[in-house]
Amino acid sequence: QPARIVVVGSLNMDLVVVAPRIALEGETILGGQFSTMPGGKGANQAVAASRLGAKVHMVGCVGDDGFGQELLAHLNQENIDTEYVSTLAGISSGVAMITVNESGENSIVVSSGANARMTPDHVRRAESVICSSDLLLIQLEIPMETVEEAVSIANRHQVPVILNPAPANQLSEALLKQVDILTPNETEGKLIITGQADGDASVEEIISTLINKGVKRVVMTLGGDGAAYSEKGTIQHLKAHQMEVVDTTGAGDSFNAGLGVYLAEGGSLEEAVQFAQKAAALSVAKLGAQPAMPSRIEVEHFHNKRSNGGEV
Ligand code: RIB
Ligand code: NA
Repeated sequence: QPARIVVVGSLNMDLVVVAPRIALEGETILGGQFSTMPGGKGANQAVAASRLGAKVHMVGCVGDDGFGQELLAHLNQENIDTEYVSTLAGISSGVAMITVNESGENSIVVSSGANARMTPDHVRRAESVICSSDLLLIQLEIPMETVEEAVSIANRHQVPVILNPAPANQLSEALLKQVDILTPNETEGKLIITGQADGDASVEEIISTLINKGVKRVVMTLGGDGAAYSEKGTIQHLKAHQMEVVDTTGAGDSFNAGLGVYLAEGGSLEEAVQFAQKAAALSVAKLGAQPAMPSRIEVEHFHNKRSNGGEV
């Protein structure tokens, strides 16, 4: 019996150019290979969770353009239920313009399109799917009121919630109290606790402040420094895996999906974070977000002896 995961979130078409570096303001540079690949934090997490063995339902919106049809077709190919992905008339699908540099780092501009039109009502229509799931995975690429509705429906039905607060945004105290696991990176964590992304709060301060605000558990991704999580009043650290990095786009999504699948199957938080780290590490070895998401078998056979490159 696979874990049942519902993902409420965005779908984007990613327009990706690999370039020697990220262009500066006012500058034109020549890049290399161009690819069109399905992305969006919500859909990325859905695809990753499905490949990791969960039965996934996606709740979201696309536009009535060619990208929207392709995005839906991709999810269906990945065995994801798309009954609650609405196609909105007269609106463009979400698009992300992505540059990936030679070290695999990116810069991303998202045109939200249909994702920005996703209403609390879209979520209410999917209540039956939310309440029959083992876990809700949700991000911040859809309107905040829609996020809040999904989280409160999940709470009402005692469905655990993983909120991945990306892209960075402020969160209300009422929302934080309804979150079982919050998964910020350092910038996102600082913004939530101080209202500023460039404050000087330490990892420990971020996690303990979030717990004091009512989040049940915090799992922080720290890039090259690995991950940290709260466990019974303490803070645990796990090191990063050494990886040769091709493209980090979607690594956070792979991490969140791994965490969600493992916890939905009843695993411990420590093992779930380890599983998530492997899923994220594998995802950076390939170009793109969804195309790079690893399968369950790849994660289970992951060995941390791959190479000398960056750390994830
Ligand atoms: O998290 C990675 C994603 O962010 C990309 O796929 C892009 O669509 C943006 O939403
Ligand atoms: Na990738």
